[in-house]
Amino acid sequence: MLDISGLSAGYDGSQVLFEVDLSIARGEVVTLLGRNGMGKSTLINTIAGILRPSAGQIRFDGAVIKGLPSYRVARHGIGLVPEGRQVFPNLTVRENLCATAADRFGQTKPWTIEAVLELFPGLSPRLESPGRLLSGGEQQMVAIGRALLTNPKLLILDEATEGLAPLVREEIWRCIERVKAMGQAILITDKNVKALSRIADRHYFLEKGRIALCCGSGALLDNPELRQRYLGV
Ligand SMILES: Nc1ncnc2c1ncn2[C@@H]1O[C@H](COP(=O)(O)OP(=O)(O)OP(=O)(O)O)[C@@H](O)[C@H]1O
Ligand SMILES: [Mg+2]
Repeated sequence: MLDISGLSAGYDGSQVLFEVDLSIARGEVVTLLGRNGMGKSTLINTIAGILRPSAGQIRFDGAVIKGLPSYRVARHGIGLVPEGRQVFPNLTVRENLCATAADRFGQTKPWTIEAVLELFPGLSPRLESPGRLLSGGEQQMVAIGRALLTNPKLLILDEATEGLAPLVREEIWRCIERVKAMGQAILITDKNVKALSRIADRHYFLEKGRIALCCGSGALLDNPELRQRYLGV
C-alpha cells in the first residue's frame, strides 16, 4: 500500500535521508527504529507532506503522493499522530477530535466519536475540556483519536508513548493492539522495543538517514547485538 523508493530529504541544504526504500502492506504494522537524530521523524514528516523530498518516489494505494502538501496527503488516507502530539490548546477535546474528521472511503464501519470514547474511556469526562488542560496521556489519546477519525488507510504514530507514565503507556499499547486487530495498517516509532516487537510485523532500522536493516520481531528480540548497535539498548 505504501511504497517508498530512493527517498532523500533534509533541511536547507543539509541532507538527512539518503535513498530510503520502505514498504507497508495493507493491514501490516511496521516500525521505524533508530537512535535519536537518525531521521525517523524526518521520514515520517516527508511521507506526511510536511517536508518536501529532494529525490525519490512515494506511492500510496496506487497514487503518487510525493511532494503533495500535508492536507492532500491526509485526503489520500494517511492519518498522522505527530511527535509532540500537537493537540490544539484552545479547542475542547470534542473539537480536537472533530476538527479533521472525515469518512472519505465509505468504510463499512467508520470511526465515530463514540467508538473513540470506547477505545479511550478516560476521555469521556474530558470532552468539553480545552486541550491545554489535558495530561500528556490524555493528549496522546486525543491525537490518536483525532487521527483515527480521519478513517485513515495508514495510521502513523511518531513516538507513540514518549514522556508518558508506565500505566498510561500500557493503555496506549493496548489500544494500538486493538486498532491493529481491526485490520488497521500502522507505521510506528517508539523507544519501547519490547512492546513494538509484540505488536509489529516488521522493523526498519534507520542509521544516519539510511535504512540499515529490515527484520521481523523474532530477530529483533533474539539479537541483543542488533539492538545495541542500532538502538543502544
Ligand atoms: N527542523 C529541522 N531543521 C534542521 N534540522 C533538523 C530539523 N529537524 C530535525 N533536524 C535534524 O535532522 C536529523 C534527523 O532528525 P529527526 O528528528 O528526523 O530524528 P529522529 O530519528 O526522529 O530523532 P528522535 O529519536 O530524537 O525523535 C537530526 O540531525 C536533526 O538535528
Ligand atoms: Mg523523532
